[in-house]
Amino acid sequence: MKTVRFGVIGCGLMGREFASASARWCHLKGMSARPEIVAVSNRSEAPRRWFTDHFPSVRQSTSDYRELLTNEDVEAVYIAVPHHLHREVYGATLGAGKHLFGEKPFGMDLAANESILEAAKARPDLLVRCCSQFPYYPSVQVIGQMIAKSAFGRILEVNAGFLHSSDLNPDKPANWKRIVEFNGAYGVMGDLGMHVCHVPFRAGWRPRNVRAILSNIIPDRPDGKGLGGRVETATWDNATLLCEAETPDGGHFPLTLRTARIAPGESNTWYLEILGTEASVKFSTRNPNVLHVLEYDGGRQDWREVCVGYTPVFPAITGGIFEFGFTDAIQQMWAAFLTELVGEKLPDALLARAATPEEAHLSHLLFTAALRSAEQSSTETVSASHP
Ligand SMILES: NC(=O)c1ccc[n+]([C@@H]2O[C@H](COP(=O)([O-])OP(=O)(O)OC[C@H]3O[C@@H](n4cnc5c(N)ncnc54)[C@H](O)[C@@H]3O)[C@@H](O)[C@H]2O)c1
Repeated sequence: MKTVRFGVIGCGLMGREFASASARWCHLKGMSARPEIVAVSNRSEAPRRWFTDHFPSVRQSTSDYRELLTNEDVEAVYIAVPHHLHREVYGATLGAGKHLFGEKPFGMDLAANESILEAAKARPDLLVRCCSQFPYYPSVQVIGQMIAKSAFGRILEVNAGFLHSSDLNPDKPANWKRIVEFNGAYGVMGDLGMHVCHVPFRAGWRPRNVRAILSNIIPDRPDGKGLGGRVETATWDNATLLCEAETPDGGHFPLTLRTARIAPGESNTWYLEILGTEASVKFSTRNPNVLHVLEYDGGRQDWREVCVGYTPVFPAITGGIFEFGFTDAIQQMWAAFLTELVGEKLPDALLARAATPEEAHLSHLLFTAALRSAEQSSTETVSASHP
């Protein structure tokens, strides 16, 4: 099995998720490549120490990501840093000739995203992909197969969302994700939006226009320094986007995309509903083993509850009767990146490939139009421009 030597820039929540997925690579069956983390960079030291404590393969630990990029041992880089750093760090990584797996939103705003896309275009020899793991749930893979077979008939409507709830607590301290300077003007759309766009965009369903309702529900929070200070949290907490989406065959339908930090009772709910004239499906991570399916052939309209089990697109050791979860989806996504990186054929599935820079770019065109829509209470065209 080929070993691909990785550097990790940003050793926080998501940096550790990648490390954990790499540590149990034996979970996957038949892989032709595996990741090995050889270098880490984080501004502060403590998060790096977690890596050096758990991964003897880490030979470089630095506060300066530029040092990591000059390390000739590093072939590919995973970047999980605050949004305001995406443009600079992703651009420098590509400039240094390293393959890039970058976190969403893949640039804090449209200009940053287009700058990253330009850098990627200049290096077609490098693999560039964007993090978005939910399509790797087996039920969502089944939905992907149904989309590929045009099983839905005429699409009537699609509703996708990603809902969090912990920000309902006004005493939850602010972190960089709540501050516009670091998180960006998109707010919750930048945090959660790519996750809800991924499947519709892969299906070829493109938003033509958007009417967005954006809410900033808690405008300031404790600053987390323990002295009673508060800080302005001007980022959008919740976003509802109603889009007119067009299909490759010229059809169009309402596409609703919801992202929320304040959705009471929802801890990490990603959902997708597709309603069509011949079939409909509903999936939610609240009940991840279940896919609801309705197939209409002129007879009774019955929703079936299908237990999809542990049937991921990249085979694994877990028995097919068991349940699949968040950390499994992360590892499957990494399996997709490694497979492509070493030039192996991906499984023949619509949702096998990790999210592309072009898909991330389309999400930026949508969120930029959504900001205009919310500001002017208008329906805005989603620009078709490409960098
Ligand atoms: N795919 C997902 O489900 C998911 C979930 C959460 C976050 N994210 C994304 O991951 C990225 C990081 O989010 P997180 O939740 O891991 O944040 P985090 O705050 O937990 O980690 C970010 C890390 O980057 C470090 N950092 C800051 N500046 C740096 C620099 N100049 N050089 C090196 N390190 C630096 C910080 O010290 C911190 O340890 C964001 O783009 C976010 O949108 C993705």
